[in-house]
Amino acid sequence: MATIFSGIQPTGEVHLGNYMGALRHWVSLSKRPEHEAFFSIVDCHAFTVPYDAKAFPKGVFETAVAVLAVGLDERATVFVQSDVPEHTELAWYLGCVAPMGELGRMTQFKEKSEQHKSSVGTGLFTYPILMAADILLYKATLVPVGHDQLQHLEFARDLARHFNHRFKTELFPEPKPHHLTLRIRGTDGGEKMSKSRNNTIAMLEPPQGIWKKLKGAFTDPQRVTREIPGRPEICNIYTMHTVVTPEPALTETIHAGCTTANIGCGDCKKLLAESLDRELAPVRERAAELRAQPKRVLEVLGDGASTCRARAAQTMAAVKEAAGVRGARSAP
Ligand code: TYM
Repeated sequence: MATIFSGIQPTGEVHLGNYMGALRHWVSLSKRPEHEAFFSIVDCHAFTVPYDAKAFPKGVFETAVAVLAVGLDERATVFVQSDVPEHTELAWYLGCVAPMGELGRMTQFKEKSEQHKSSVGTGLFTYPILMAADILLYKATLVPVGHDQLQHLEFARDLARHFNHRFKTELFPEPKPHHLTLRIRGTDGGEKMSKSRNNTIAMLEPPQGIWKKLKGAFTDPQRVTREIPGRPEICNIYTMHTVVTPEPALTETIHAGCTTANIGCGDCKKLLAESLDRELAPVRERAAELRAQPKRVLEVLGDGASTCRARAAQTMAAVKEAAGVRGARSAP
């Protein structure tokens, strides 16, 4: 039985990068009978940069709605990170074996500390330790994430190894990325579609909204007129086609049409809008149903947290045993 773990921050709307890079894989992996799956709305990670505390609970709820609406298998456990205090507890133990040098090399730390120059807390620096704790608490072996999280995942593998080595144990397996890691670029052509860069298309946006953003989205910058052949391999629109356009023949036609200038970027985007709508219309419908029953959403999250707490308590007992931390039981 493989254990899957992944998380999403509850900041801003869930966007197509999150959906294609992560959530879509959460769904398929959760449905495999040989998998058990844990998915978390990682609110403690969101505390690492300035945020609006008043609006925060709504963000957590909306993220939960989006996660549940994508259609995870009902065996999957969905929960909010702060409901399971063992995440931050394990982060402390792992932090004590985490090399500072490696943390300083994290690309996301460099980017975010630059972005929030005036308020860089140590939480931003130690963020990857908490992420490792999320994964290792459930001894997860497979972690579906987008390309931007691979460095953090590599760090989690290192920490598992460091802990095991330091305490001569085999407690933690080394978590692996799901073999498909994808990067969706922003509508502005930027390296990454990202909530903080204001270049996103929301997953739950109505079709007109999606179309408006797609219409203005960057494609191959060399293709300044329709007559110039395009390069699908560097075009974000084509990348998205490869994910959501189900017919391989159509994807091939699009590829050939683009490279021979037989279809223009506008036509290509229209086809993408159709594919997106086919896939996301049921997700929007389920999200509307869930918003209409907030109690049901809270119940799912509450049940998820109970399951996780029981599991987390077992891991923490083993961690403390390995580390020789026995608290009052050490007293003569
Ligand atoms: P977050 O909230 O930024 O993003 C959630 C997931 O979406 C993926 N993603 C993308 N994939 C492709 N293209 C993009 N433009 C794009 N933008 C986001 C992310 O890679 C991620 O898989 N640190 C994590 C959350 C986290 C986590 C974990 C993930 C905390 N603990 C443990 C896995 C395991 C984050 O900030 O994701």
